[in-house]
Amino acid sequence: MSAMLKKITEAVSFIKSCYSSSAEIGIVLGSGLGNFVEEMTVEKEIYYTEIPHFPVSTVEGHSGRLIFGQIGQKRIVVMAGRLHFYEGHDATEVAFPVRVMKLLGVHTLLISNAAGGVNASFAVGDLMIITDHISLATVNPLIGKNEDAFGLRFPDMSEPYSKTLIKKGKAIAAQMGYPVKEGIYFGVTGPTFETRAEYKMINVLGGDAVGMSTVQEVIVAVHAGIKVFGVSVITDLGIREEDNIITHEEVLQAAAAAEPKLTALFKELVKAI
Ligand code: HPA
Repeated sequence: MSAMLKKITEAVSFIKSCYSSSAEIGIVLGSGLGNFVEEMTVEKEIYYTEIPHFPVSTVEGHSGRLIFGQIGQKRIVVMAGRLHFYEGHDATEVAFPVRVMKLLGVHTLLISNAAGGVNASFAVGDLMIITDHISLATVNPLIGKNEDAFGLRFPDMSEPYSKTLIKKGKAIAAQMGYPVKEGIYFGVTGPTFETRAEYKMINVLGGDAVGMSTVQEVIVAVHAGIKVFGVSVITDLGIREEDNIITHEEVLQAAAAAEPKLTALFKELVKAI
């Protein structure tokens, strides 16, 4: 057994010793998007700091616990507070919780993030269903010895975001009367927001939104055969004519304002899976 698999197994054993049910759907909540837990019947909360080998989040706005429970008949595990590469975790550590989820029984991952819009038709507060991503400006979490227990050395990435889930997500948003955008998420390391030239470049390269998370977790999920649905909340606009100063406070504020829509979409999608 690899050192990594041993760590994951130990983390999973600890979780199972505190909470005996499995989970089928994993949910990762981005900056300022943590209220989803109000919608679920919570059965158990475990702080990352309690779990052996679990990397601990340090960012403001991320509380750092796994929350187990149910929505309807679905068993879910929510990662309230995620880990970012810019905090100093390596790419494999960032995705560690996804592998823990896999061994807990998770087959579908719903993932959200706050992102900067670079598509000229986007506005602050828009929800963007992620149809694809560009991960080349970040470090690939599968670099290193392949973890054969999870997946292949050279995994296919032609459909990182499940077409079936995108269709379901769009149908649910339409039913609820929420306009949603669709687009490509461009992953960066952060922690700096982009320069004006970088936002422009990201747009030219095909990105619709840019953010500091998600791509590493999604790569590890797809490697492990987990289906993914992702949504970006557009919290700022990267390409504007006037001075474009972006602050973390602005991002959190915009995320909080859009949060009820995201929460409703995720809740209905969980029920529909
Ligand atoms: N750039 C990168 N990450 C982000 C942004 C942004 O503009 N907004 C929220 N997260």
